Amino acid sequence: MRIPEEMITLRDGRSLQLRSAEEKDAKAMLDYIRQTAEETHYLIRYPEEIAYTLEQERELIRNILASDSTAWFTVFDGDRAVGNCSISRNGDRIKVRHRCDFAIALEQAYCGCGLGTLLTERAIAKAKELGFEQMELGVYADNERGIALYQKMGFTECGRIPRAFRLKDGTFIDEINMVRFL
Ligand SMILES: CC(C)(COP(=O)(O)OP(=O)(O)OC[C@H]1O[C@@H](n2cnc3c(N)ncnc32)[C@H](O)[C@@H]1OP(=O)(O)O)[C@@H](O)C(=O)NCCC(=O)NCCS
Repeated sequence: MRIPEEMITLRDGRSLQLRSAEEKDAKAMLDYIRQTAEETHYLIRYPEEIAYTLEQERELIRNILASDSTAWFTVFDGDRAVGNCSISRNGDRIKVRHRCDFAIALEQAYCGCGLGTLLTERAIAKAKELGFEQMELGVYADNERGIALYQKMGFTECGRIPRAFRLKDGTFIDEINMVRFL
């Protein structure tokens, strides 16, 4: 689905555009995904695991725009995508249709300025509007800033998978599962 376009101002005064990613943004989205995957280990993929072609990315964007249960909130600095957050239905079966998954990633240069808070607020409002009853996420147990954001926004820990992630250097990190009732 498409989200309304708006200009947003970060705490440090930078002005950015919040809108849906369109097909023309496919390259910008791939650049952003690679950049964020390089900057921290808090995302699921290593950069070399991002192997989408431009056409595959365009198709993904078309599918998101056509969906009635998935929304992307993408932040642009000029033509560059610098952050994204998403909500998507957990599953289509009747028993799980009330749940949505939440994910967010910003480029490091845009972290710590309130953008994560703003995007999460927008995502919660949209999830309520769509009739979801709870939002769920998984976060690396060492992601202090992520966990601080989620707690601030009303998510609470509901589970933990020991050693869910194994980094290239052999370090294991737990996954914390969090839920926010809507
Ligand atoms: C996690 C992330 C989305 C947070 O967004 P953000 O814009 O940096 O966060 P905000 O500036 O809105 O800050 C949210 C809260 O986090 C806390 N916080 C901010 N910086 C922090 C830091 N360096 N360490 C610990 N907590 C911190 C504060 O409580 C803050 O709220 P406040 O400003 O009202 O006090 C963002 O940093 C990010 O994308 N990081 C890299 C990728 C990632 O970790 N994604 C999440 C995967 S689950």
